Amino acid sequence: MTIISDDSKFFQEKDKSRNTEKSRAADVVEPAVSDFDKSFESNIRPKKFEEYIGQSALKSTLKITIEAAKKRNQPLDHLLFYGPPGLGKTTLASVIANELGTKIKITSAPALERPRDIIGILMSMKDGEILFIDEIHRLNKVAEEILYPAMEDFFLDMTTGKAQTVKTLRVPLPKFTLIGATTKAGALSGPLRDRFGIIHRLQFYTKEELAQVITRTAKLLNIDIKPDGAMAIAGRSRGTPRIANRLIKRVCDYAIVKSDGIVDEKTANLALDTLHIDRCGLDTTDRALMTLIIEKYDGGPVGIETLAAALGEDVKTIEDVYEPFLLQEGFLQRTPRGRKVSPEGYRHLGYKMSMEQKSLF
Ligand code: ADE
Repeated sequence: MTIISDDSKFFQEKDKSRNTEKSRAADVVEPAVSDFDKSFESNIRPKKFEEYIGQSALKSTLKITIEAAKKRNQPLDHLLFYGPPGLGKTTLASVIANELGTKIKITSAPALERPRDIIGILMSMKDGEILFIDEIHRLNKVAEEILYPAMEDFFLDMTTGKAQTVKTLRVPLPKFTLIGATTKAGALSGPLRDRFGIIHRLQFYTKEELAQVITRTAKLLNIDIKPDGAMAIAGRSRGTPRIANRLIKRVCDYAIVKSDGIVDEKTANLALDTLHIDRCGLDTTDRALMTLIIEKYDGGPVGIETLAAALGEDVKTIEDVYEPFLLQEGFLQRTPRGRKVSPEGYRHLGYKMSMEQKSLF
């Protein structure tokens, strides 16, 4: 399998929004991807389903779909993966390509700004190949409309000539498979969503699954890790393999400098404490977000724009990066009038709720 990456613009865009002191400090736990992660991740990326840990329901569906496509000698249905960043959407797309014995071209919606970007990439595809478009909810209207006939009938509708002489040409395309990935399935237009045969939400990983990911990565990187060390890191990785893989390296550095290089529970906990990642995996920004709601807004509800302005973060980062895990862990609640800290959130940060606040839950 060959990965052809056309995502330089995409990563530049992501890096722009991360260029603040605060986001640099939060680099280890923020699941956004950096250039360093790109090469690191491709080195440790699982190639086959048997190496890919977690997402078992999705894997079972995919195995059957892939086998059926192979038996029918037809392209795989278009797939849409959604869910928080860092859960392995790109990795899974690469595994699928590998299992099919085909190539994958990886790009992202912000890199497909002009019609010729999407037309060029579609025309470069071959039968059975996979086109992976990250952040597909950010595709512009023109690009979307080019994709509709391409996905449905493997045609490009091109126009030639001017005014009265304008003609529409149907240019045949190879029978490719589109895999779209998004953190916001709701932001996708209905017609685009309807053209995917399988739509699946990736789940946060359990602590045990993350410990397996960590043990696998440690082995590939020649890091000496004990099972309790893997569990300690897993517990603070916010259900996200990309974060787990980043934390292993930080903990390993700490173990080499401060101890004997072996990552056990004690070393892992000490290292993670120095990174200000707490026992539930919350970092300084998570805690600042919840503390702000408790101290300034009496526990909420408070609007996301207000929170973003007060924290100096953008709304998208709070919605895509911080909130999903806080919601999943039950520390935060989303209501029509804004965000509220839950009783668990109060307890976790060591705050007491008033009787009146309690009565609102
Ligand atoms: N590295 C990142 N995600 C992984 C996964 N799901 N399984 C194995 N290794 C991984």
